[in-house]
Amino acid sequence: MHVGVLTGGGDCPGLNAVIRAVVRKGEDHHGDSFVGFMDGWRGVIDDRVTRLDIERCRGILPLGGTILGTSRTNPFKVDGGLEAALATLRKEGVDALVAVGGEDTLGVAHRLAGEGVSVVGVPKTIDNDLSATEVTFGFHTAVQIASDAIDRLHTTAESHDRVIVCEVMGRHAGWIATYAGIAGGAAEVLVPEEPFDIEVVCEALKARHAKGRYASIVVVAEGATPAEGTLEVASAEVDQFGHPRLGGIATVIAPEIEKRTGFETRVTVLGHIQRGGTPTAFDRVLATRFGVAATDAVHDGAFDQMVALQADRIVRVPLAEAVTELKTVDTDLFHNVAGIFFD
Ligand code: F6P
Repeated sequence: MHVGVLTGGGDCPGLNAVIRAVVRKGEDHHGDSFVGFMDGWRGVIDDRVTRLDIERCRGILPLGGTILGTSRTNPFKVDGGLEAALATLRKEGVDALVAVGGEDTLGVAHRLAGEGVSVVGVPKTIDNDLSATEVTFGFHTAVQIASDAIDRLHTTAESHDRVIVCEVMGRHAGWIATYAGIAGGAAEVLVPEEPFDIEVVCEALKARHAKGRYASIVVVAEGATPAEGTLEVASAEVDQFGHPRLGGIATVIAPEIEKRTGFETRVTVLGHIQRGGTPTAFDRVLATRFGVAATDAVHDGAFDQMVALQADRIVRVPLAEAVTELKTVDTDLFHNVAGIFFD
């Protein structure tokens, strides 16, 4: 078969491991040939392709980012985008397409399946917020990076007896914040799922410092929002999928904390550092399993489906199901594990 591969949405460590596994299994076991589409759906619309074979994939397993490039282009939001994408797939002679991405990329994949494209999805997001899979690759790497950063913030915060607000990624779900908060010993964790009251946060910090403890690390997910009427936050621009460009909540709450508690407060926004660099071994293994399973799905004709991890087994779920529900932070984990250490 002639198989197209693309990576869409925000990049994430492990994408290259997926590409390598798709190609290795397809070329070695089925005699497949491949075409790589550059920059996600953008490359399909514009017919920008690159060579993709085992030789091209040598050495990419530990590489962060994606050799195919990525973008947040939505063909259904570009004039003539759908027609152009379908024409490219015909012209390139693509028998099946493997789309690696999050809810947006996979949502487009599902709509293209409705147009007759034979597509298999591979879930990707460092936010770990896709409900159909227990975990997405990239998440563990992001948590490791954030935890390492928090360890470093502890030593400087303790030396100066400061509060440091550390902002991590997590648009709709606070998985990175919760895991990194637990792993890094955060005094407070603020997540999108539970709007926070800045006054309650400050009272907790005052109580903690009154017990004689030095310093506090407050981990805040970029998508965390104040409870209605408690704090003003400016609204952000949106992308083609309607998502706000976030980043900056830490800079809003840090001065509030300093003003209300009197504790010197600093801000660290980890931003794209969490998405860059080499994937952890866990993410390489998961990405490789997904890639092999995607090629298996192509050859089983399991189209309009996504590979997923459930009970440590790779399964297939309909794309329609995969993109409908957001996986938010487990409340038990948040309150009864992370919350035990909020003081
Ligand atoms: O891919 C999800 C994500 O990492 C979010 O956590 C974050 O809000 C967003 O991507 C950032 O996207 P961009 O790379 O477009 O700034």
